[in-house]
Amino acid sequence: MLPFIAEEIWVPGQCVIGLQWGDEAKGKLVDLLTEGKDLVVRYQGGANAGHTVVIGDDVYKLHHIPSGILNEGVLNLITPGVVINPPTILAEINSLAERGIVVADRMKISCRAHVVMPWHVLEDKMWNELVSGEDNIGTTLRGIGPCYGDKIGRSFAIRMGDLIQPDFADRVRRIVAVKKQVLSAASGNQDVALDAEAIISEYTEYANQLKPMITDTNRILLDAVDADKNILFEGAQGSLLDIDHGTFPFVTSSNSSGVGISTGSGVPGNWIEKVIGVTKSYATRVGGGPFPTEQENDKGQHIRDMGNEYGTTTGRPRRCGWFDAVAARYTARLGGVTSVALTMLDVLSKLEEIEVCVAYELKGERIDYFPSHVNDLRNLTPIYETLPGWQIDVTGARSLDDLPLGAVQYARKIESLIGRRIEFISVGPDRAQTIHIPEGKSLEAHLKAKTA
Ligand code: GDP
Ligand code: IMO
Ligand code: MG
Repeated sequence: MLPFIAEEIWVPGQCVIGLQWGDEAKGKLVDLLTEGKDLVVRYQGGANAGHTVVIGDDVYKLHHIPSGILNEGVLNLITPGVVINPPTILAEINSLAERGIVVADRMKISCRAHVVMPWHVLEDKMWNELVSGEDNIGTTLRGIGPCYGDKIGRSFAIRMGDLIQPDFADRVRRIVAVKKQVLSAASGNQDVALDAEAIISEYTEYANQLKPMITDTNRILLDAVDADKNILFEGAQGSLLDIDHGTFPFVTSSNSSGVGISTGSGVPGNWIEKVIGVTKSYATRVGGGPFPTEQENDKGQHIRDMGNEYGTTTGRPRRCGWFDAVAARYTARLGGVTSVALTMLDVLSKLEEIEVCVAYELKGERIDYFPSHVNDLRNLTPIYETLPGWQIDVTGARSLDDLPLGAVQYARKIESLIGRRIEFISVGPDRAQTIHIPEGKSLEAHLKAKTA
């Protein structure tokens, strides 16, 4: 058990979700919390995710595979809410094998999970090209939206279980015939690069390789729940990218907030005891869409440089800005968050002053809620409070006592604005660069003792 994490953390049903627009360091948290777990479950999203785990000199970038894979003795599940790109997941499995991690022994994939097919990637690219300017979503081009679209539409969907059914070939032929017509009409190109027979033989081969891992994960998960096993759920993306509750249409196509745990995995919602909401000490976003506290200036560039804020999946520079407490409070409440992990505190260490958005001004009025419409989100003005920086390197801190008072005061301010207890503070990418604040201890009590 990691020495700096107190025992009370090991409860049976626990989830890690992002409270912002993704890349909050969920992968780091999941890896940390995997110890002592029986199962780690990825329940939504697909290869659009990029979760980084740093263990000493080893850096792992995981897209499809749950971040629990690096711990032996843990079963990793990919459940029905995930969309899977077979060649991509196989490449990930092979690259882990080259590093000595045999995924097949420790991972199962739901036969209900939908398959990202070549036409989905073509559609994603084409729909992105057809919409320009500020309406462009700027997706990861991994075929995510079109695949989820076909899942909801049903008629043109393929699930992992279908890959190994006798009617797979006919299904592909039927779908390709329609997709070619649609893509030709949309692009004006009569020669859409979709060859049904080539796809059938390619995907049959992928299915052969993945077959030992494809199963009904609902049965495994419900049996595990009955047996009171320790299960950790790994959210992908961030709550503000949630298809129903995020900054629509600039979102991903799954329920990436806390409300998606149950639908994506197949466990009853009331069984999840603990939801850890992960948030950066500032804010970032990749792709298009409103970002009220964005700093398109030297402050934003400073954060990007200090935090190495470039996308794990696409390498795109991440848009950077100040912490938005209105948004984080909204997503923490939406997701039933029980405690918060505040990450990247080290990134702010050089700043003299740090701004925190505490409310918005919209149409001349001060508001403290997160607006639902993209036009309101675009037109509001953040109201900031300015806090002093601490200007001391915190990357070596391992307890609250090691942190400068200014850094604890900053964290406490964020905690009080979100309205949820901060349980973890992360001061660097490595597992060890983490401060755990167990129940019974608090930032407030720490500050009182220090300033008495
Ligand atoms: P995820 O998608 O939420 O898992 O996050 P990503 O892995 O895409 O992005 C987080 C990045 O920040 C990764 O490169 C991590 O290694 C790194 N990271 C995690 N925690 C910290 C931290 O506390 N400080 C710094 N400087 N980097 C961190
Ligand atoms: P992790 O799990 C950050 C963003 C894309 C785009 C929008 C829609 O690493 O936090 P999509 O390809 O999903 O249709 O793109 O969502 N996006 C992410 N941004 N982190 C992610 O995942 C993301 N997954 C999708 O940039 O704006
Ligand atoms: Mg990421």
